[in-house]
Amino acid sequence: MPDTAVAPDATRTSGATLEVRDLTTSYGPVRALDGVSLTAAPGRITAVLGANGAGKTSLLRTVSGLVRASSGTVLLDGADVTRAAVESMVGRGMAHVPEGRGVIAELTVEENLRVGALFRGKVGREEFDRVYDLFPRLVERRDNPAHTLSGGERQMLVIGRALLARPRILLLDEPSLGLAPRIVAQIFGLLRQLVDAEGLSVLLVEQNARSALSVADVGIVLNLGRVVATDDARTLMADEDLRHAYLGF
Ligand SMILES: Nc1ncnc2c1ncn2[C@@H]1O[C@H](COP(=O)(O)OP(=O)(O)O)[C@@H](O)[C@H]1O
Ligand SMILES: [Mg+2]
Repeated sequence: MPDTAVAPDATRTSGATLEVRDLTTSYGPVRALDGVSLTAAPGRITAVLGANGAGKTSLLRTVSGLVRASSGTVLLDGADVTRAAVESMVGRGMAHVPEGRGVIAELTVEENLRVGALFRGKVGREEFDRVYDLFPRLVERRDNPAHTLSGGERQMLVIGRALLARPRILLLDEPSLGLAPRIVAQIFGLLRQLVDAEGLSVLLVEQNARSALSVADVGIVLNLGRVVATDDARTLMADEDLRHAYLGF
C-alpha cells in the first residue's frame, strides 16, 4: 500500500507567534513568575535565560498548559490559550520538550519516534525522514536501544520526536544541560538550520546563557520570576554588567 500521509502543508510548517502578557504563576506561597511579558516570533530563536530558580521551567510549563497561570495572558497567533488544556496544545501547533531527555530506554530510536508519533495523529514516512535528515546521527543509531545513546543523541531524539508533530512553535527546556560544549554547539547549529529553513518559532530556555545567546536572535533574562532584560542576543552578549549579574559569564 502506498504511503497515504498527507503532503506537507505550508501553513503548518511556518511559525506561530507566542505572546505572553503579564504572566504570574504561583505554587502555593511561592511566586515563580511575576508579571512576565515576552514575544516569540516565527523564524526566530528566542532564548529565556537566568539562574537556577529564575522561573524558566515554570514559564514553559505555564505556556504549555501544564501549570495554571494565576493571572496574565498567553496568546498563540492572537488566540487566547491561557486556559487551554495541555492536550490541546499539540493540535494548536505547540511542542514542549521538557528538561531531562525522557525516552523509553528499552526501545530503539525508531521505536521511540514511533511512540511519539502515536500521540500525534497521522505521521507519514516523510516526517520520520525529515527528522533523520536533520539528525543523521540518529540514522546510524536507528535500531539501537535508547539506553545505549549518548546524552547528545538522546537530546536529538527528544527534539526529533517533538518535530514529528510539525510544530509551529517548539519549547525547549535546557537542552544543553550536561552535554559537552562541542555537542551543544552541534545541536544548537542544527536548531538554527531548522529555524532558518522552516521558519518555526523556538522558545529556548537555558541556564547556559553563553551558548544560547550565540545561537538566539532575541534574549530575555529572568531573575526571581521577573524579566530584567529583553534585547537582541548580540546586545545582551555585549552587556558585561548584565552578564556578570545574571548570566554567569
Ligand atoms: N512544583 C513546585 N512546587 C513549589 N515550588 C516550585 C515548584 N517548581 C518550581 N518551584 C519554585 O519556583 C521557582 C522557579 O522554579 P523553576 O521554574 O523551576 O526555575 P528554573 O527553571 O529557572 O530553574 C523556584 O523558586 C522553585 O523552587
Ligand atoms: Mg528549569
